[in-house]
Amino acid sequence: MTRITFIQPDGSEKPVEAKNGLSLMENAVNSGVIGITAECNGSLACATCHVVLPQDLFDKLGAPMSHEDDMLEFAETERQDCSRLACQVQVSPDLDGAVIRVPAG
Ligand code: FES
Repeated sequence: MTRITFIQPDGSEKPVEAKNGLSLMENAVNSGVIGITAECNGSLACATCHVVLPQDLFDKLGAPMSHEDDMLEFAETERQDCSRLACQVQVSPDLDGAVIRVPAG
């Protein structure tokens, strides 16, 4: 298990014991994190799983691949420097203790 805290769009914190090997989106949806609707269920076709990572974690994981990068432009919430699509981020111990923000619409 990897401990992740989501900051939901209303500013409230949602601590999650995330399963390694599943995506950040799957863990968020399974835990009822508000603001991640994941309409395409991880097919990289909706951008409704937009999250903002802490800078150090974003740097560690590397920049999004080109299709994810393209899809981020369609996110309803404004893209930021450390934006990622949560369905494209696999949970691993590298994420332990991370605080991940779900942007407000
Ligand atoms: S769930 Fe649709 S792009 Fe991530």
